[in-house]
Amino acid sequence: MLALSGVSRSFREGGRAHRVLDGLDLAVATAEAVAITGRSGSGKSTLLNLLSGIERPDSGRIELDGRDIGALGEPARTQFRRAHVGFVYQFFNLVPTLDVEENVRLPLELNGVRGAEARRRSAAMLQRVGLGDRLGSAVDALSGGEQQRVAIARALVHEPSFVLADEPTGNLDEATATETIALLSTLVRSRGATLVMVTHDLALAATADRILELRDGRLRPRS
Ligand SMILES: Nc1ncnc2c1ncn2[C@@H]1O[C@H](COP(=O)(O)OP(=O)(O)O)[C@@H](O)[C@H]1O
Ligand SMILES: [Mg+2]
Repeated sequence: MLALSGVSRSFREGGRAHRVLDGLDLAVATAEAVAITGRSGSGKSTLLNLLSGIERPDSGRIELDGRDIGALGEPARTQFRRAHVGFVYQFFNLVPTLDVEENVRLPLELNGVRGAEARRRSAAMLQRVGLGDRLGSAVDALSGGEQQRVAIARALVHEPSFVLADEPTGNLDEATATETIALLSTLVRSRGATLVMVTHDLALAATADRILELRDGRLRPRS
């Protein structure tokens, strides 16, 4: 269960405050998939950064499974994020100096899973995304779609309760985007995780249980 109530966040812009989120409410049930659309600059990434605890709200509550993460200090938020959140980015954000398997193993090591057990789990996850034969490849030797599959494996390998995706297909061609979203939703649903996905693409958004639009700092059902 994910619940936001009265969440506001402003940024200073040329000396005055620009209120990006303005009393935003959102409730997402466990295992529900929600898509968020909205024009560029409407605050979609800001919202995801608040959900993952990268940023804090100016006011309002952000509860993930009953924990008010906005109220936690930085170390506790980092620990919460590592343990319970998986993130998929538009530009993949893979570590170029690590190979495919090492990238996927990283979240496990950050959670204290090491050695053979960590390698077994990262290899199994890469198998699930169809990259079981690319474990030792350099990430920049892969295509964009393959890199995003590595990123999906990395986001899910530690079995997070919440998966957040920020325009995960924004950098992929249409056919690869469709495959990638299908893979992401299938894997997230098979694990009973809750998905919040930002996308411009209404066809991709339609794969979610619900589509919301972020406008004027608040979310409303998209008709
Ligand atoms: N760290 C920041 N500092 C200052 N302004 C920011 C920061 N993050 C976002 N903003 C501003 O907040 C608004 C919303 O940004 P963002 O959440 O990235 O929108 P979206 O993801 O919908 O395109 C923009 O006007 C952006 O310039
Ligand atoms: Mg954004």
